[in-house]
Amino acid sequence: MVVWSPFRFNCGQAISNRFVIAPLTTDASHEDGTAADDELEFVRRRSASGFGATISSAAYVAPDGRSWQGIGAAHEGHLPSLQRLAEAMRAAGGLAILQIYDGGRIARPDLIGEHALRAPSAVASLRPGAKTPRAMTADEVEGLIASFRQAASLARKAGFDGVEVHGANHYAVHQFFSPRANHRTDKWGGTLAKRMNFPLAVAHAVRDALGPKLIAGFRVTPFEAESDGYTLDDSKLLCGELAKLNLDYISVSLDDYRNSRPVGETRVYNGPVAKIDTPAESPVTAFARVIAGRSAVMTSGGIKTCADAGGAIELGADLVAVGRAVVVDPEWLSKVRSKHDASILAGLPKDEREIAGALSIPPRMVEYLLSRPGWIPRL
Ligand SMILES: Cc1cc2nc3c(=O)[nH]c(=O)nc-3n(C[C@H](O)[C@H](O)[C@H](O)COP(=O)(O)O)c2cc1C
Repeated sequence: MVVWSPFRFNCGQAISNRFVIAPLTTDASHEDGTAADDELEFVRRRSASGFGATISSAAYVAPDGRSWQGIGAAHEGHLPSLQRLAEAMRAAGGLAILQIYDGGRIARPDLIGEHALRAPSAVASLRPGAKTPRAMTADEVEGLIASFRQAASLARKAGFDGVEVHGANHYAVHQFFSPRANHRTDKWGGTLAKRMNFPLAVAHAVRDALGPKLIAGFRVTPFEAESDGYTLDDSKLLCGELAKLNLDYISVSLDDYRNSRPVGETRVYNGPVAKIDTPAESPVTAFARVIAGRSAVMTSGGIKTCADAGGAIELGADLVAVGRAVVVDPEWLSKVRSKHDASILAGLPKDEREIAGALSIPPRMVEYLLSRPGWIPRL
């Protein structure tokens, strides 16, 4: 089966199978952005089951862009923590990829200060209780691109095998591409072509900082579920431009790949499912056609079995990223490999006290997981 076959990226790095651990924020790092021991254990135990690669939780590139209390890749002081993280991620010889992000308008005011919120434009997000950010100056936009470049350099120094730009799920890079969040009239906004400039500049800076031998990936939400959002046709154009930058992979971020459901901005999981116009063609297939082999295609969302993974590959993906299934069952991949599907844990235990210890999940991450009812399945 293709899912168990090796894969070689453009840059020459190879992985032994197509399964990748999706980026999973723990919200449990130290205040200074260094990784906590229980966070490293969360990653080590899951990577040890033999994934081709592990993508880290998103690391902030600038302290005033933090959306949770996570790891940082913002200055040299973060290097020892990043080194420890890369080692934990390579527990069974898979590759270690650092995801980097900026929160923009969905940074958390309690972490960055009430008045520090800055974004492409002064438009509040749809999240309940969201504050209105101020619009970044042109110098700040250039500064943020430089922060992404620096984060990629730090990843390289720390020994990571690659870096993924978090261009999805409504964080700053996504915001620059979104007509809902970006109302700028300078070179960073206005037309569709100008809204692509920031994502492309970040991808270019990261590719450049990594050099030709490390993996450069980019994660995209393929269309917005919100009215007035960008469409799949818009993101296909962005994808076509990204594919010219010699990226190793482009990751299509979906909440469920089988019914092409993207992650909504409000992230309310137990409310009524928003009615969205689902494109006729799977975004995975659409992206694969535009990319045409120039980069690998990764996808994610609702992969719980080997058949789910195979289905994603049939749609055009080369690699599959698995999130919630490995949160609730750290040995998920070993069980899938040995066809012990019946023993796969399908949800977090009912008794909250069991979750942290039995599953090696940091206690603060347990709180985070349970804070959004309907997000993570329960037994
Ligand atoms: C606890 C948790 C934390 C997450 N953190 C990140 C993150 O840091 N960066 C990111 O791109 N996606 C993040 N995601 C989204 C996942 O990577 C994945 O795309 C999503 O959960 C859908 O895949 P799944 O159905 O296999 O979980 C997170 C998801 C969960 C459940």
